[in-house]
Amino acid sequence: MAAPETVPPAVASPGAAQEAGEDPKSHRTTPRSEAFRRFIAQGWGPRPPEDDRLAEPSRWAAQRRRALGALFPGELLVVPAGPLVRRSNDTDYRFRPHSAFAHLTGLGTDREPDAVLVLDPSAGGEHRALLYLRPQAPRDAEEFYADARYGELWVGPRPGLASLSATTGLEVRDVAAMADDLAVAAAGSAGTRVVPDADPAVTSLLEPLRDPDAEALERADDEFVTALSELRLVKDAWEVAQLREAVAASVEGFEQVVRALPAAVGHPRGERVVEAAFDGTARVRGNGVGYETISAAGDHACTLHWITNDGPVRPGDLLLLDAGVEVDSLYTADVTRTLPVDGRFTPAQRRVYEVVLEAADAAFAAARPGVRFRDVHEAAMRVIAHRLAEWGVLPVDAQASLDPEGQYHRRWMAHGTSHHLGLDVHDCAQARREMYLDAELRPGMVFTIEPGLYVKAEDELAPAELRGIGVRIEDDVLVTEDGVENLTAALPRDPDAVEAWMASLRG
Ligand code: GLY
Ligand code: MN
Ligand code: MN
Repeated sequence: MAAPETVPPAVASPGAAQEAGEDPKSHRTTPRSEAFRRFIAQGWGPRPPEDDRLAEPSRWAAQRRRALGALFPGELLVVPAGPLVRRSNDTDYRFRPHSAFAHLTGLGTDREPDAVLVLDPSAGGEHRALLYLRPQAPRDAEEFYADARYGELWVGPRPGLASLSATTGLEVRDVAAMADDLAVAAAGSAGTRVVPDADPAVTSLLEPLRDPDAEALERADDEFVTALSELRLVKDAWEVAQLREAVAASVEGFEQVVRALPAAVGHPRGERVVEAAFDGTARVRGNGVGYETISAAGDHACTLHWITNDGPVRPGDLLLLDAGVEVDSLYTADVTRTLPVDGRFTPAQRRVYEVVLEAADAAFAAARPGVRFRDVHEAAMRVIAHRLAEWGVLPVDAQASLDPEGQYHRRWMAHGTSHHLGLDVHDCAQARREMYLDAELRPGMVFTIEPGLYVKAEDELAPAELRGIGVRIEDDVLVTEDGVENLTAALPRDPDAVEAWMASLRG
């Protein structure tokens, strides 16, 4: 990485630096001479135009904006993409827009830091959709060649306002006009709502334009955030296609991991070899991973969010891999398979695996339109509780354990069986309970089915031969008119099929 701020000047003293046209107070070596400025500003042809990849997502996003506007007639709605976030010192994280912004604009990958979507009702009728954007800096501006955060020579060009407007159908304006525009729009609106934590600078900008009652503001924004989450509960056809693509890329990632297992076994940090195989595929096939990959061998599988991934991968152990590719539109898969490192499950591993598979199958059998989201979880929990009772590890019978006052079986599966999936791995997380956990399934919903059993190595209540075994099987499902489609069916789940699939990949 080029270092704009750390290269010492090639001059002996501040006086000499000034002579060279450099800033004497800075260690930057950026040339500042007039001759340089004039020279770098000239001799450039036109920038390449925006390609048309945004045309289709933009059409779907326009429908979503209309649906959102209809929920808040007459109100000014503000959805920032968010700012660049510092990783450390002078380096930023790779930018990812807020999911609500991506949903309502169709912009994915790293587009666009500091952009703000505004739905303005002040002209009456349907909201007018505006996208505020940092404009391209001209080639004679210092930003073009000297700004490592935003400058075109450093991070590439930003879209032109006109060309982005042509491809998205949004009215695209310079963000410099936003403060004045918002003041006018807020004055002509019945209220103003913002996604408050997307971009603190935008939230602060709106503050003087809004009701001074802080509690009322918080309530209004909470309702807005909830509505944005609930708007994503049922996926449209384009979103389902994106999720299918995310799953297809993830299946490739899992295949690469199986191929990498011999190398992982031979490495002291084999879990990292596994992570690298999956994450490399994710970066090549999509935008990256949708969440940090969980590469957990042996007892690490019992740590639900094990992302340190620095342990060995030993023959005879299981590898729990929970990983998903996020495609360029930012939709992600979320898949777990638990694989025998050397290709064959031991009898003890099969015992645990088959209970988890039976729980998953029960959840699949329960899932169809009209049943409640929580019924899917409860179907899986009935299996888990009954099998754990048979193992003799519960202090009560299965029925008593399933009672809300009991729940002893949850010691071995502390997480839920399902969550919605989409732009976020835990999508729609701000939806109200009655719209999520207690809501009936509807065609177009996409969620995970992911029961597990985790018997920690030091668990003295568990049978000795099962200690150190953790299993999760996680599939992504789409609710259809009469049931669910397993989107991740290309990855085998049955233990015999898992063994055969691994053997076929390892040749
Ligand atoms: N990978 C996180 C989850 O399965 O929910
Ligand atoms: Mn999950
Ligand atoms: Mn997962």
